[in-house]
Amino acid sequence: MQTFFKRAAVVGTGAMGRGIAQMAAQAGAEVWLFDAQAGAAAGARDALTKTWDTLQSKGKLDAAARDANVQRLRVAESLQDLAGCDLVVEAIVERLDVKQTVFKQLEEVIAADAVLVSNTSSLSVTAIAAALKHPQRFAGYHFFNPVPLMKVVEVIAGLKTDPAVCERLAGFTRAYGHTPVSAQDTPGFIVNHAGRGYGTEALRVAGERVADFATMDRILKDQMGFRLGPFELMDLTALDVSHPVMESIYHQYYEEPRYRPSVITAQRLAGGVVGKKVGDGFYKYVDGAAQVPP
Ligand code: NAI
Repeated sequence: MQTFFKRAAVVGTGAMGRGIAQMAAQAGAEVWLFDAQAGAAAGARDALTKTWDTLQSKGKLDAAARDANVQRLRVAESLQDLAGCDLVVEAIVERLDVKQTVFKQLEEVIAADAVLVSNTSSLSVTAIAAALKHPQRFAGYHFFNPVPLMKVVEVIAGLKTDPAVCERLAGFTRAYGHTPVSAQDTPGFIVNHAGRGYGTEALRVAGERVADFATMDRILKDQMGFRLGPFELMDLTALDVSHPVMESIYHQYYEEPRYRPSVITAQRLAGGVVGKKVGDGFYKYVDGAAQVPP
């Protein structure tokens, strides 16, 4: 079975879309970038060029590979420009209605055998696919932030997904050196289900004033071997992304108390104290570096 995608598109070129585009280009695919916000796709192309320049200057990428990667990027002006793509990865805002609208529009322009996937963290793959004419060519394709470093990618089959689509995605994932993991279409899939407990429990511990944020992070790193503590991770992901995911998983499991989101993150989100990207989260950031209390 053919696994490679020759011409991929990324719709939504924010934090995740950029990383996904980087992987697809490094695998050798031509990559089309589209974003609803004017200038965002071109901005992503420029940022990726800088990333490859940096890798080259560090000796991690040779000049020919750097040039080939840059030349594989294309900026799309509209969804129509994606007509010739055989894979479209959507990484836009986490809203079912908006994602369904984009996929319906894509189905109008894309070839019948092209594969459509969503990087959703918390929505049901089956529910997104319900809006499509050809739900069998649709799957979840869930990356983690930062995409180049986080090597696991969940491949999620919805109720109607053709298993061959998942196999093809798994093969493509291996082509850029990541590890595909098959997941069921259950709330949070595997990682955001199994891993969520650490975050919610750490928030409970902090809420009960057993230990502060920095102490919890230090303990989980030094004693438990985590690379990032739960509060560092929430700062990196940003609460405008992760708090709605916590709410979504909680509601999808019919208000199961284990998954109840925290009033701490709700309040911080309301106050705009969402994490590293705004310089203010559980930690304060100066020039991108966390100011960790002694
Ligand atoms: P982001 O906010 O950095 O980027 C989203 C981009 O989508 C923006 O550039 C925005 O202009 C664009 N966009 C919004 N609506 C659009 C539309 N209708 N058509 C085209 N472009 C549109 O968001 P981020 O963090 O990259 O997340 C994107 C998706 O990836 C979400 O579904 C999120 O749940 C998921 N995700 C996020 C992770 C994270 O840690 N940030 C991890 C895994 C999945």
